[in-house]
This record gives sequence, C-alpha cells and structure tokens, in this order.
Amino acid sequence: MLLDVLRSRRVLFVGGKGGVGKTSISSAIALARAREGARVLVVSTDPAHNLGHLWGAEVGDEPVRLATAAHGYVDGIEIDPRATVDRHLAAVHDAMRRILPERMHPHAKRHLELAREAPGSHEAAVLERVADTVELAREHYDLLVFDTAPSGHTLRLMALPRQLGDWTETLLANRDRSERFSSAMRGLASGRDSDPERSGDALIRQALLRRRGRFELLQRTVADPLATGFVIVSVAEPMPVAETLELSESLRRIGVDIAALVVNRRSPQDAGELLAARRRLEDRGLRALEDRLPGVPLAEVPLLGGDPRGEAAVAALADALP
Ligand SMILES: Nc1ncnc2c1ncn2[C@@H]1O[C@H](COP(=O)(O)OP(=O)(O)OP(=O)(O)O)[C@@H](O)[C@H]1O
Ligand SMILES: [Mg+2]
Repeated sequence: MLLDVLRSRRVLFVGGKGGVGKTSISSAIALARAREGARVLVVSTDPAHNLGHLWGAEVGDEPVRLATAAHGYVDGIEIDPRATVDRHLAAVHDAMRRILPERMHPHAKRHLELAREAPGSHEAAVLERVADTVELAREHYDLLVFDTAPSGHTLRLMALPRQLGDWTETLLANRDRSERFSSAMRGLASGRDSDPERSGDALIRQALLRRRGRFELLQRTVADPLATGFVIVSVAEPMPVAETLELSESLRRIGVDIAALVVNRRSPQDAGELLAARRRLEDRGLRALEDRLPGVPLAEVPLLGGDPRGEAAVAALADALP
C-alpha cells in the first residue's frame, strides 16, 4: 500500500520528530524501490547524520553505493554543510582576488572568515546541496529520498528556496548597478576596459545565475504534488501524534503535499500484557491521526526485534512495509 502510493513520486522528503525512524524508513523505502528496479539516492540533510550508521557504511558528501538489487540500487549521501560552505567561500575568495586591488586582499579574506561563521550559513549551504542533488537526480536517479532533520529545521529548509531566490535576485540587481559603475570608473581612469576585472564580474554573475536556476528548479520540484511528496514518520504515542499534527499543518501552509503518514514501531498485540497495553494506547493515537488527517494514506510498520544495523536490518524493514 505504502509503496503503491509512493511509486509515482520522484522526490520524497521524509520527516518527523527526532528518533521516530526517519532514517530507517527512508532507507527501507529506498531498498524496496531498488528491488523493483529503481535507481535510488538517499540524501541525509540532518547535520547529526545516522544514515552511515544504519547501513554500517562510510557515507559522505558524494554518493556511495549502499545496496544493489536486481536492476536497481541504493546510493547514499550525507550532506556536509561545512565542506559546502568552504567550497563556496573558496570560489568567492577567488573571484574577489580577481576583482579587488592587492592591498584589499587581506581585508576580503577576513570578511570571508566572518561569513563562514555567520548565522544561517550552514542552513543555506545545506539548501544549496539539496538543490544540487535535485538537479543531479533528474538525470541519474529514478527516486530521490531526503532523510531530513527533525521537524523545525526541515520546515525552515523548505521555506528557504523562495527567500534565497529573492536574495539572489537582489544580488544580481546590485551587480548590474555596480558593474555599470565600475566600468564607467575604469573608462575614466584608463580610457579603456580592463579585461581581468570584467572577467571577475562575469564569473560572479554567472555563479549567481546558475544558483538562481537551481533554486527555481528546487522550488518547482517542492511545489509539484505529482512528482514530490512529504512522508511524515511518527509513532502513535500522544506527544509525537501532537507534533505530527502540527507538522502536517505547517506543511499544508507552505504548500507541500503530504504523500503518506507512516506510523512506525507498532507494538504487537500477542506478545505479553505490557506490549498489548502499549498497543491500546497507540490505537488511540492512530484514531486521532486518522480523524485529523482524513485522506492522507496511513501505513503502519511493526516494531521489529534484532540488530537494527546493516543491510539485513534495512531489508527486514523493507519487507515489513505494507
Ligand atoms: N520498525 C522498527 N522496529 C524497531 N526498531 C526501529 C524501527 N524503526 C526504527 N527503529 C529504531 O529506532 C531508532 C531510531 O530510528 P532512526 O535512526 O531511523 O530514527 P530517526 O528519526 O532517523 O532519528 P534521528 O531523528 O535521530 O535522525 C533506531 O535505533 C532504529 O533502529
Ligand atoms: Mg535520522
């Protein structure tokens, strides 16, 4: 049922409260789809990654193969915001050195060091990589699964493309103005255009335009309910249920389609009174979710025993998906 509902989507954002099973469910969905022949990329956007731990593999900023199935496979990435910020600042530094006179270089360098620690720079870097992977996946993967950070962080991330798009727009407009100004100044000073400076300007402009293109694609992708869906993972206990309802409300407000709700770690009925009592409590949570989220496909995944790490564990969870 869950897989049927998700089969038509090319991009899934998997989110929910901390520790409910986002990484496990993302990976299980990925493996199940790979078994059907899909090329799947799982991307962890959570700065506290646990994708590598789950698969027992070294996962980093570039795709690594986590599993191969009949015709499909699962690759994984853990986005490294610091590496992204470093790359970005190195490019800006390079462009600045071309544009600015030499005596200004130390000053520019100090400025960039400050920018590295500026609030929001990591979030923006993660978003930049999210936009990159959406672009990459269009050609190389059939399904892209984002294993996201606990709720608040993810929502800010999903609202960011528009803000950063506007900001890029402003930068481009400012560049147009300063480009006209500096070429007028150069004309006055030397009577002709100086090439290296122009190429610096052109580089920055090019980078900004590329970035605007990526954010536009991300924004279109996030807003397209046919291609993209949000999968909320929860457990059916009172607190996570309340948070799930809040999260679904916020997602609706920003126009993201909720593809499915996964109620994870359902207690068994026939394994002793303790678990049976837990299950009765979960039943109440489940009913609340059904009442408050009518029309959202709801999938229950059982509580599993055994070692939760390694490909076999992901496979067991994939088998347990309804
Ligand atoms: N269906 C299940 N049965 C048993 N254990 C499960 C199940 N799903 C997840 N777990 C276990 O629950 C714990 C949390 O799972 P997971 O790491 O996938 O959650 P998460 O939401 O990604 O956490 P975080 O918010 O810290 O990233 C892990 O120990 C995992 O093995
Ligand atoms: Mg996780």
